[in-house]
Amino acid sequence: MNTKVYNIENKNEFDIAVKEVSQIIKNGGIAVVPTETVYGLAADGMNEKAVAKIFKAKGRPADNPLIFHISNYEMLNDIAAEIPEKAKKLTEKFWPGPLTIILPKKPNVPHISTGGLESAAVRMPSHPFTAELIKACKTALTAPSANLSGKPSPTKFSHCFDDMNGRVDAIVDGGSCKVGLESTVISFLEETPILLRPGAVTPAQISEVIGEIKIAEAVLKELPGNEKTLSPGLKYKHYSPNADVFVVKGSFEKYKDYVENVNKKGVYGLVFDGEGEKLSIPCFEYGENHGGDLQAHKLFSALRKLDKMGAETVYARCPDTDGIGLAVYNRLIRAAAFQIIDLE
Ligand code: TXA
Ligand code: MG
Repeated sequence: MNTKVYNIENKNEFDIAVKEVSQIIKNGGIAVVPTETVYGLAADGMNEKAVAKIFKAKGRPADNPLIFHISNYEMLNDIAAEIPEKAKKLTEKFWPGPLTIILPKKPNVPHISTGGLESAAVRMPSHPFTAELIKACKTALTAPSANLSGKPSPTKFSHCFDDMNGRVDAIVDGGSCKVGLESTVISFLEETPILLRPGAVTPAQISEVIGEIKIAEAVLKELPGNEKTLSPGLKYKHYSPNADVFVVKGSFEKYKDYVENVNKKGVYGLVFDGEGEKLSIPCFEYGENHGGDLQAHKLFSALRKLDKMGAETVYARCPDTDGIGLAVYNRLIRAAAFQIIDLE
């Protein structure tokens, strides 16, 4: 397939891209588009044939449901069978932005988009291009992260190009994604909302608006068997670079002691700013210690970079787990296939 590339830095190209990409999508095609979280691979969410192309291009298992991206509340009403008061309050506060809600779906919403579930995930992205695109398409767009299934989500154009060139009709280059990690996912299918995936909208920010929420056990550990049906996406291998990643808990001194004494062949460090120069192994830095926002922004890019550098084994410094740090930690332990070295 011939993939057309757009760069939307200048206003003229932005407008051309909105026009042409919306046409591609209305005709049942698929396109990689930037969002404020990560790049998404978009199709008309109500067009079963188009949605099937997304699964094929990514190599995504059919039971892993997609998120509907909307540009107004009318679109939400077309997808959700009911909208609980708490869900409304939360969206009023955080939409447009990096928040996805799960609600019971209407019968007309195709099962291919929801991975066979009777619920649907919905978010209203704030990225100006994708917001305009949805408006122009006049339909909700299903868009998973635009990586090959199992790889780290793309946060830059080059990541999208590496994974999707030749597999999609178009790729829109919007520079680097602001947040860098996927949206917060919260389910409203039960009385007490359950956080299924942490993101830039934090548990504390959510609780401030709607009170008590539960945090799915799978956020902090390997998915227990009883949660497999709650969020099908979580049971698959995720964010995994080619390298074997280990998360190392404990102080920098203990980390240094540890990595200086391992067999160093193919070993790289994924460390905080300023730490690389104090170590004898090659390192890649992913933001300041305790600086969750920058860590989130850099993590996926760092994982891809380490692969390109030829890392075989990566020892990663462990982020804090408060605020957006919970999301950074959640992605990193998955990239590490839950291999944690506890030096605390
Ligand atoms: O920030 C984001 O959310 C990005 C951008 C492109 O918008 N999208 C994204 O999509 O991360 P994806 O497909 O990579 O992740 C969607 C997650 C998966 O873990 C999936 O299992 C979950 O949302 N999900 C979707 N629909 C669901 C449902 N009905 N019930 C439970 N989980 C659902
Ligand atoms: Mg994904």
